[in-house]
Amino acid sequence: MNPVKVGIAGLGTVGSGTVNVLQRNAQEIARRVGRPIEIAHIGARRDNPECDISGIRVSRDIFAVATDPAVDILVELIGGIDTARELVLTAIKNGKHIVTANKALIAEHGNEIFQAAHDNGVDVAFEAAVAGGIPILKSLGEGLAANHINWVAGIINGTGNYILTEMEQGNRPFAEVLKEAQELGYAEADPTFDVEGVDAAHKLTIIASIAFGIPLQFSKVYMEGIGRITIEDVKSAARFGYRIKHLGIAKDTGHGIELRVHPTLIPTETMLSAVNGVMNAIMIDGDAVGPTMYYGAGAGAEPTASAVVADIIEMGRALTVDHEERVPYLGFHADQMSDEQI
Ligand code: HSE
Repeated sequence: MNPVKVGIAGLGTVGSGTVNVLQRNAQEIARRVGRPIEIAHIGARRDNPECDISGIRVSRDIFAVATDPAVDILVELIGGIDTARELVLTAIKNGKHIVTANKALIAEHGNEIFQAAHDNGVDVAFEAAVAGGIPILKSLGEGLAANHINWVAGIINGTGNYILTEMEQGNRPFAEVLKEAQELGYAEADPTFDVEGVDAAHKLTIIASIAFGIPLQFSKVYMEGIGRITIEDVKSAARFGYRIKHLGIAKDTGHGIELRVHPTLIPTETMLSAVNGVMNAIMIDGDAVGPTMYYGAGAGAEPTASAVVADIIEMGRALTVDHEERVPYLGFHADQMSDEQI
């Protein structure tokens, strides 16, 4: 069967997680797509011992992946903004579909990238850019598509929540916990993005664009981080029945859309207050459905890879629509199923 061919640019935490998930679940993924997904080319400055890339073409020049005629889908996992923008625009001009986990890139250059993709007849998917493994963008754009969204609010930076949790429960100083979050692969390459609220603001920009159908407007987000919060602040909040959580809030005020990220005092009996460690939790209030809540790992190699690979699968399915060997949506032919399964 002719495989769908992906090129992966970047082999850091999320890149290695993506290789591992694609390899480990290859059979189930092929069943769901209707044909196999092949990693045809990897662009990375160095190998990563966390994954096995033997037998895969590797280039040290990531742009070689973006221009490789064999590649159908470019998976951008290098992070950062300027080089990632150039890489993605190069790949789009070369007719590649794009999957990216890069929230900074989408929040700050998404409008330009979507226009380029439209002009070149390719798709851009970025579920992994927001809330790691939680399929929050698909929930907003598909599952809740019938609703007028009133507001979205949640914990959308795993590193920040990990730091606040450890300060409160482990009595550990800020700098020590941040270093640990970096070692665990949760923090951004520039951890000030996590600490100062920039990462949450990038994610909120993307959420708001999908929830309210507005252009990406990162510069309009009110931004405050957790950098000045001390163990004493956390302990005092607890004495009064609150926990400090860093929230992203996007709200339709009736006069416009309010966008803000900042530390918030939350009563301990609420669900958001019980979200600990690297976990994210997001509430969405829609006019038809009412309040809903989504919870899961917001950072880390495989939780983020879960969203990256889901986007690859969705694109693989779309590319397989006219493929004669395609199997039905759930990946089963009725004649392959037992009576109990039918
Ligand atoms: N640094 C980010 C976080 C990674 O901690 O949430 C996932 O987007």
